[in-house]
Amino acid sequence: MNAVEIHNLSKFFGQKKAVSGLDMVVPEGAIYGFIGENGSGKSTTEKIICGLMRPNNGQIKLFGKDLSDEDVRHKIGCLIETPGCFPNLSVWQNMMIQAANISLRNPKEKVAEALKLVRMEGSASNKFRNCSLGMKQRVGIAMALLGNPALLILDEPINGLDADGIRIMREVLTDLTLKKKCSVIISSHILGELEKIATHYGIIRRGKMIKQVTAEELERECPKYVAIKPLDLNSAENLLSEKYIKVTRKDNFLRIYGDASPEETVNYLFKHGIKVEEVTTEKISLEEYYIDLMKKGENEIW
Ligand SMILES: Nc1ncnc2c1ncn2[C@@H]1O[C@H](COP(=O)(O)OP(=O)(O)O)[C@@H](O)[C@H]1O
Ligand SMILES: [Mg+2]
Repeated sequence: MNAVEIHNLSKFFGQKKAVSGLDMVVPEGAIYGFIGENGSGKSTTEKIICGLMRPNNGQIKLFGKDLSDEDVRHKIGCLIETPGCFPNLSVWQNMMIQAANISLRNPKEKVAEALKLVRMEGSASNKFRNCSLGMKQRVGIAMALLGNPALLILDEPINGLDADGIRIMREVLTDLTLKKKCSVIISSHILGELEKIATHYGIIRRGKMIKQVTAEELERECPKYVAIKPLDLNSAENLLSEKYIKVTRKDNFLRIYGDASPEETVNYLFKHGIKVEEVTTEKISLEEYYIDLMKKGENEIW
């Protein structure tokens, strides 16, 4: 079953089309990386899924049921923008208030469990205002977890985090899908980080879904290449282009796609009197894939 199925979703703010005929499918158990430039409609889509905003048009199904279904609404946890917490109260106190808000039974037990899941069990007595941004985001996730959601929606949760904060967030999200069987939608423009955690991707542009792929499909679509830094770039490019199907230039490097091996390319150039300073095997990153995809759509009329 799919956690989310959206068809032809639209949302207007006056004349402004924030979301425009968007389709989206998030399979159960996915960590769905929702990618798009600022203003492309990610937050608006997420708010609509969470029931915080009403769409002008479109069908939304969550776990096979219509979004208007009360049962299904209780299955969604969200962290959109920063969590609403009292800065002078401790993490624990804030969590207990949230537990009371949703009339949770066994609140102490549930709060402790949620804090443990987000790696905050050792910081429960910290005042919220003294928490780092990453910790605050994780408290927000812990709060959302109190409702035992089957779908968690996180709007740019790694925005502004340092490398360590991002690493912990990655561990937490992977844990959630494995231990809690929770599906996650995570929007971000930090593509390199999403690449390490997402199982699926949806790329949105000007309110439209332009591509949905699984991590495996992306792996296949992001080809490997040999990156080579020859001393004589122009001659090397001419020579390699005669031998290999696709050779491109990026900065001081040439990229050779296809089944070329680093040894073979170095030897080939060496035989023709061209020395090579550096050679590696690399793969197109999600970042590059995304930039290429955006460029392709630039001239599109919409
Ligand atoms: N409450 C609102 N009123 C008017 N325009 C809005 C409102 N919320 C969002 N928008 C506009 O809708 C577009 C999509 O915004 P948003 O969903 O926040 O994009 P993203 O999260 O991808 O950055 C933007 O152009 C934004 O300015
Ligand atoms: Mg946003």
